[in-house]
Amino acid sequence: MTRRSCTVYVVGITCAVLLAVGIGLVVGQVFRTLMHKRLKKEIVLVEGSRVFESWKKPPPPVYMQYFFFNVTNVNEFLQGAKPEVNQIGPYTYRWEYRYKDNVTMVENGRMVAAYNTKSFVFLREKSVGDPAVDSITTVNIPAWAVMNKVKGSFWRASMVSIWMNSIGSGLFTTRTVDELLWGYEDPLLARVAASSPEVEKVFGLMYKKNGSNDGEFIYHTGEQNYMDYGRIETWQGQRQLTFWNSNYSNSIVGSDGSAFHPLLNKNERIYIFTPDLCRTIYMEFEKDVEVKGIPAYRFTPPPSVLASKEENPDNEGFCVTPKECLGTGVLKVSPCRKGAPVVASFPHFYLADGKYAAAIEGMSPERTHHQTFLDLNPTTGVIVRAHKRAQVNVLLQRVPGFPTTRTLNETVFPVMFINESVVIDDESAARVRKLLLISTMVSNFPLIIVGLGGIMLIVLVILLAKARKQKSSAEDDTAYSPVNDKEKEDPQNGTYIDLTPKADVQA
Ligand SMILES: *[C@@H]1O[C@H](CO)[C@@H](O)[C@H](O)[C@H]1NC(C)=O
Ligand SMILES: *[C@@H]1O[C@H](CO)[C@@H](O)[C@H](O)[C@H]1NC(C)=O
Ligand SMILES: *[C@@H]1O[C@H](CO)[C@@H](O)[C@H](O)[C@H]1NC(C)=O
Ligand SMILES: *[C@@H]1O[C@H](CO)[C@@H](O)[C@H](O)[C@H]1NC(C)=O
Ligand SMILES: *[C@@H]1O[C@H](CO)[C@@H](O)[C@H](O)[C@H]1NC(C)=O
Repeated sequence: MTRRSCTVYVVGITCAVLLAVGIGLVVGQVFRTLMHKRLKKEIVLVEGSRVFESWKKPPPPVYMQYFFFNVTNVNEFLQGAKPEVNQIGPYTYRWEYRYKDNVTMVENGRMVAAYNTKSFVFLREKSVGDPAVDSITTVNIPAWAVMNKVKGSFWRASMVSIWMNSIGSGLFTTRTVDELLWGYEDPLLARVAASSPEVEKVFGLMYKKNGSNDGEFIYHTGEQNYMDYGRIETWQGQRQLTFWNSNYSNSIVGSDGSAFHPLLNKNERIYIFTPDLCRTIYMEFEKDVEVKGIPAYRFTPPPSVLASKEENPDNEGFCVTPKECLGTGVLKVSPCRKGAPVVASFPHFYLADGKYAAAIEGMSPERTHHQTFLDLNPTTGVIVRAHKRAQVNVLLQRVPGFPTTRTLNETVFPVMFINESVVIDDESAARVRKLLLISTMVSNFPLIIVGLGGIMLIVLVILLAKARKQKSSAEDDTAYSPVNDKEKEDPQNGTYIDLTPKADVQA
């Protein structure tokens, strides 16, 4: 056996082994599975894990922007005209967290308990004006809450009606942004509180929310099953809500919107429990996006989430009583607002029945501006960008015992909307990009083996071709090769020789 054929054998065997192993690994997805196993193991809510610190204190700033609807034709509206509103905002606050507070492992370390404490810091440069000065004319929410409370009793309704007249408390009120958000003492509530001390005298949309929390959450760590990562087990000690009329409506499903399991699938529904809405909502895949070089799936709430009970029978449980069942795109949340006729929707009644936007001059629902969405990196489940947008409305209608409401048709009246937004910070983005690169490289490692096998195959083919050619030329070598060699040298030689005699002859 010659040295050359030995090389051919070695190359051949190496090539076969590389190709077999490589293709085996690719087909069996061994490295991919290993990588996924690793991710599932690392993305858990336990001390020392990769994600625990950023879960407790998320690094990117979260902005809360408030937009108010300033009513410009109160008197005309009360006489039966269509209401007109102007959008005023944003008034921007940054969440200053000690986000997850009092974090403790419970249930033998299978779960983790925490409070979500946040405070709000006003950002003047990102706002349209001074919330202490800017005044907004809007629905007098405390008055509507009290009127709704007493409407069953003619006697109490008449008394409240007289109080309202005597203290000049109307169906609409003008207050500063600060008052509307962070609270003011309402004269009617103060009057009611004088006889029923349990009633809060102060009203504000965000009253007592600064530096407070929504109560204790207990989350799954995701150690047993990665699909459970960040899933809520209980809220305020409860597995179920009690506000609504069906198990479906009362269920607390999914995460609180701050953590999502890794290895997301385009076909899955993502569930998020939101204490603000007093319910669980879900989101579905909309499209692929990219944020700061990180690929992401965009998840959005489909129309069925807030569809009327006719369109989505699952939602029947959200009707407080059959009479209080509103149409598509609006959700009456009075059961968790102490009975106040508050209605939640997307801003400008986006995704709602067109009649709601049509009833108010100044509404123009637009997907880009009013959509709620979450952009999640599918490999890690990391939030790369999110916009949570919701509108607070009040249901205005005729209230028996209150003559001033006589002219009113049932109207879902917009008060304000929020845009809570977050984008991954550069440092975290760099870390996620690095992790994804490693993950891609490890997952594709078998392809490198296959590639090497392929190169070896090419080398083998070349070697074989060469060996074959050499073998056939070796057979003919004796026949004409030397002649050939001579012929190559001869012409010059011959001429030289030829010349000499000629010269000699001439000489
Ligand atoms: C709201 O509208 C009233 C008039 O209807 C106006 O006086 C007031 O300045 C407006 N508020 C803001 C913040 O523009
Ligand atoms: C109120 O409802 C009545 C009857 O449905 C309708 O004729 C009227 O135009 C409505 N008014 C407004 C301001 O929408
Ligand atoms: C957190 O723990 C401290 C001390 O144990 C306690 O004083 C505080 O009230 C707790 N915070 C919450 C939100 O429960
Ligand atoms: C909320 O509380 C923080 C600290 O307690 C304070 O700095 C901030 O100004 C408060 N925000 C509002 C809107 O009152
Ligand atoms: C939040 O949404 C509002 C309404 O569409 C928009 O004007 C605002 O720019 C958004 N804020 C951020 C930080 O993107």
